[in-house]
Amino acid sequence: MAFELNNVVPWGRTFTEYQQMFNLSANDVTKKIVSIGDGPASFNAEMHAMGKQVTSIDPLYQFSTDDIRKRIDETCVEVIGQVRANADKFVWNNIKDVEELQEIRMTAMNHFLRDFDQDCFRQRYIKHAMPAKTSFADNAFELGLSSHFLLLYDNLGLKFHTEAIREIMRICPELRIFPILNLNAGAPVFFDELLEVLGSDFNIDIQKVDYEFQKGGNQMLVIKSKT
Ligand SMILES: C[S@@+](CC[C@H](N)C(=O)[O-])C[C@H]1O[C@@H](n2cnc3c(N)ncnc32)[C@H](O)[C@@H]1O
Repeated sequence: MAFELNNVVPWGRTFTEYQQMFNLSANDVTKKIVSIGDGPASFNAEMHAMGKQVTSIDPLYQFSTDDIRKRIDETCVEVIGQVRANADKFVWNNIKDVEELQEIRMTAMNHFLRDFDQDCFRQRYIKHAMPAKTSFADNAFELGLSSHFLLLYDNLGLKFHTEAIREIMRICPELRIFPILNLNAGAPVFFDELLEVLGSDFNIDIQKVDYEFQKGGNQMLVIKSKT
């Protein structure tokens, strides 16, 4: 199915959120990182400003800065309205209310847009749709991250997820996925099967992290190569 901008609801998180969601240590951030389904998050931009190495992968990057900005402006009010209507499903500790959430998300996405525009040769923002094979060599990266992409969309199914995870594990020895929730804030429907299918080839662990915004979303899945 074609990836159309009209179907995308861009929503981007910050470096601080990535650090908490993935329990990133001072050593982790020095690693060569690939972030899958990175969308309009400001993680890459903020890491780049600190002299760190992140490559972001997302089919969103086929579109121009202006088109992505327009789509963010079109959808932001609707998303914020949905969060307001479902405010009881979120933990309002680090982010105190819906207004602050909008401010944080828009600041992150504007930071992304400036950085995306500057990366005009698309060296750090790679347009690519998983689970297709990427152009990267085996173990080209040291750490893979997936924030609010893998496990979130039940409709993508078990095959999509196993193929995508196997491809990511080809290009890096460790993948961290956050949260372990689907769009309904429940366990992904194929989760047990996924663990069974991947369990024979990889070491898999579920770890609690210090980040919880969506209620119940405070765990990451860590997948490591056995070799
Ligand atoms: C909810 S957003 C998460 C953005 C970012 N990771 C964050 O947490 O702020 C999900 C992202 O997955 C991307 N995506 C959708 N299908 C994809 C695919 N087949 N391969 C890689 N990324 C995909 C979307 O374009 C979108 O940017």
